[in-house]
Amino acid sequence: MQSFSKENFVPVSREEIQAGSEKLTFDLYSINLDKGQMEPAVLCRRGTSSHEVARAVSDRLLDKLFVKKQALQEFYDHMEDSLGSIIENPRLPTKKKSDILYNCASNVMQDVYNDPRSGDNIERSREVSNHIIRFTLTDPASIPSLLSLSSHNYYTFTHCVNVAVFGIGLWQFIGLGSPSELRDFALGAILHDVGKSKISDDILNKPGKLTDEEFEIIKGHPRNGYELMEGRVSDGALDIILHHHERYDGTGYPERLQGDTISDNAKVAILADVYDALTTNRPYGDARDPFQAMLMMKEGMVGHFEQEKFISFIKFLSKTPT
Ligand SMILES: [Fe+2]
Ligand SMILES: [Fe+2]
Repeated sequence: MQSFSKENFVPVSREEIQAGSEKLTFDLYSINLDKGQMEPAVLCRRGTSSHEVARAVSDRLLDKLFVKKQALQEFYDHMEDSLGSIIENPRLPTKKKSDILYNCASNVMQDVYNDPRSGDNIERSREVSNHIIRFTLTDPASIPSLLSLSSHNYYTFTHCVNVAVFGIGLWQFIGLGSPSELRDFALGAILHDVGKSKISDDILNKPGKLTDEEFEIIKGHPRNGYELMEGRVSDGALDIILHHHERYDGTGYPERLQGDTISDNAKVAILADVYDALTTNRPYGDARDPFQAMLMMKEGMVGHFEQEKFISFIKFLSKTPT
């Protein structure tokens, strides 16, 4: 991030701007530092067509591009609206697409957490989970690329994106069902912890051991999430939200389901959820590497996962460098 004397501007990449497929919803600025220019000047006004923007940007190859800090939200929205064409753009490298998609998805999830009852936010999470599916279907390198972005510190909303990406990959690897079932699964996975939006950050981010009372509050999040989303998302998605803490041996919560009373989709979400929790820095523990996490799941969580899915999980992990 760079600041100039009069205004605060945020640099944006040429690829991002060129990838936009909608009219600009913000003013785009440029500056040619090589020519000693000191202040960004408007390059394209809000409302400029994507075609004209692409031409203006390629006419000014040496310029750096910026948006005003106050217009950052419009910039993110613009990227979100353009995701379909970004994913299909053959000129954009996988890494760039992953960066844009991961940022947009994390942004959407942050908004869902701030306002989980907003129908618009639920619709955006559906859209973004479908974009993740589309990306994974069009580009085999997309899953490792998206997962490489997930080694950040733990935030509930990036965790949800990670669980969706990893879960979609594992679900496809196992080959569980129809495209519409995959869409339900993906939406459930990205929303799986939405019930945590009702729990205070003091409890969620507590570095020490939780009291019994605090743990009971945490354990309420699958049901909270179910109640928040009931009637708003499909039964397939609700299944993931309600059952992602069940365990194969019946030691999970909230319903203490056992064995195959847990659906195949929920079993995949359970593996993705535990794996991401173990491989990400959390307030109460450092991240393990993928091998340590797998070992911990194999030896420290005996009986928690269905054996067949767990073997698929290990095979998937060994084929997906993270
Ligand atoms: Fe959870
Ligand atoms: Fe989770």
